[in-house]
Amino acid sequence: MKIFHTPEGIRRWSLSHRCAGRTVGFVPTMGALHAGHASLMRAAVAQNDVAVLSIYVNPTQFAPHEDFDKYPRTWEADLALAEEIGIRAVYAPRDPDLYPKDFSTWVIVEKVSEGLCGRSRPHFFRGVATIVTKLFHAVLPHRAYFGRKDAQQCAVIRRMVRDLDMGIEIVEMPIVRESDGLALSSRNQYLNPEERIRARALSRGLFSVRDALTAGERDLTTLREIMLDALKDVRIDYVEFVDAETIEPITEIQKPILVAVAAYVGDTRLIDNLAYDPITNTAQ
Ligand code: PAJ
Repeated sequence: MKIFHTPEGIRRWSLSHRCAGRTVGFVPTMGALHAGHASLMRAAVAQNDVAVLSIYVNPTQFAPHEDFDKYPRTWEADLALAEEIGIRAVYAPRDPDLYPKDFSTWVIVEKVSEGLCGRSRPHFFRGVATIVTKLFHAVLPHRAYFGRKDAQQCAVIRRMVRDLDMGIEIVEMPIVRESDGLALSSRNQYLNPEERIRARALSRGLFSVRDALTAGERDLTTLREIMLDALKDVRIDYVEFVDAETIEPITEIQKPILVAVAAYVGDTRLIDNLAYDPITNTAQ
């Protein structure tokens, strides 16, 4: 497994594979890898001739008061997992190379990035869209893998790739969960044992909403109350029912929707969601 720290290095490696007719799969991450990341890496390895992982805690998607400094960094374990899964190259850029002092170009994806997490973290999707563009330009992948755990991020990346003619296939992977339902997240490490138990509320609420939806419930007020009821012991940031593609709030359930939740358990902000398609009556 090769390791590159500069965009030029990984680009040369990737181009040599593309020129030899091989497909390049790409999994962008911030490291502290867990089974959710592993599912993306396994798919990238299985569906492409070579697969690249990037590890970079991107400063521009954190606000000054957020957890950039304490975000977990587990470099050695991350490399071992990537190697075991069959990743062929790791791109781990360094800050000064990616963001020179007079950096001044941003990718802003309007509308899709404005609701949900975009409202509570206004800086966030500008940072994500910009770094993902930079990573795409360095890695030059045919396909890139993203988790539905961050459903709005998937919608933002899809829109950006379409609008800017990036020509990269975006593959979305299902949410990987702990056995009690909690969605895996690098930030789960911040939870103490008591908070870890309370954190089940997000998935518990979503599963109850899923059961109501698949049983035919269509009243958004009733569905919302089911969710709020489950979240009594955590501090809610948002609970929203939105169109899965546009991320705009819905008034009735006719197209695929997302039930999205963000909540603080102690000081830790967790997100989770449920995708529901009324046409097939299936939920993920
Ligand atoms: P990070 O939080 O490290 O997540 C990297 C990828 O793993 C994302 O696509 C995310 O949706 C996916 N992922 C995380 N938890 C998951 C789970 N439980 N099940 C399935 N997939 C999961 O998302 C980012 O990094 C950054 O914003 C990034 C795109 C790398 C840009 O900096």
